[in-house]
Amino acid sequence: MNSSQQTLPEISKSRVVGAAPEGTADPASAARAVREMFTSIAPRYDLLNHVLSFNIDRLWWRRAARTFRSILNRPGARALDLCCGTGDMTFALRRAAGESSPRILGADFSYAMLQRAAQKAAGLSSASRGHEKSAAVPEWIEADALNLPFPDKHFDLVTSAFGFRNLADYDAGLREILRVLRPGGEFGILECNEPQGAVGAVYRLYFRHVLPRVGSLISGVRGPYAYLPASVERFPQPAEMMARMKIAGFAEATWTPYTLGIAGLYRGKS
Ligand SMILES: C[S@@+](CC[C@H](N)C(=O)[O-])C[C@H]1O[C@@H](n2cnc3c(N)ncnc32)[C@H](O)[C@@H]1O
Repeated sequence: MNSSQQTLPEISKSRVVGAAPEGTADPASAARAVREMFTSIAPRYDLLNHVLSFNIDRLWWRRAARTFRSILNRPGARALDLCCGTGDMTFALRRAAGESSPRILGADFSYAMLQRAAQKAAGLSSASRGHEKSAAVPEWIEADALNLPFPDKHFDLVTSAFGFRNLADYDAGLREILRVLRPGGEFGILECNEPQGAVGAVYRLYFRHVLPRVGSLISGVRGPYAYLPASVERFPQPAEMMARMKIAGFAEATWTPYTLGIAGLYRGKS
């Protein structure tokens, strides 16, 4: 699928569409609930991610990051990984940059998640000391994706992996990404997707019944792993998402399915 298939008037332009964990009434309480949820699972987040995705998440981060290699290789490039959590997409960008040294920032509004990212970065750099040519390491910043502390037209690349779906207002998120992108800049949103047909039936069975049980068992908390399938169901399907990207002002909007469409990469150009 390469372009928006839905005409713009078909989707609501006024209704706020975004994450709404159970019991929240407005975008502000939704954002608070999302932050508390991720903070509560931060210590076990990586383990659960890999178990619940059968480690496919590693391939997705790598594939998405490689897509943007040419931008990362631009002299003086700046990249922002939004909703970076414990940093795996940020590290994938760093690896995809190879020998070049773009400035890479990981931003998240959960301090606990960022702390894990910083610990992992310290572990990686001490493990690679003496083996690799030194490259600029990612920097971490506590920031809200809907209100970024950066000037207009600042970044060549903005990415977000499995984070955008958690924003309390998707259209506001898209506008904020566009604001901080330089003309000719790109963004990539790697997100879960609910596929259609037989794959969708298996996916729903796993996501609604198996994943919440295993997630709650390992993490010791129920809420986040009941929220996860609900948030994927709530997230716009690709055609609607691309239409929203166009409305936000992106010149191009595409979606590339990954692994039978259970995830996919949205790309937009400013
Ligand atoms: C599912 S995790 C994804 C983490 C990481 N990108 C990955 O691929 O594993 C979602 C992250 O988005 C962050 N997040 C959600 N809403 C946010 C917002 N408005 N601003 C900044 N971070 C946000 C959460 O704190 C959480 O760390």
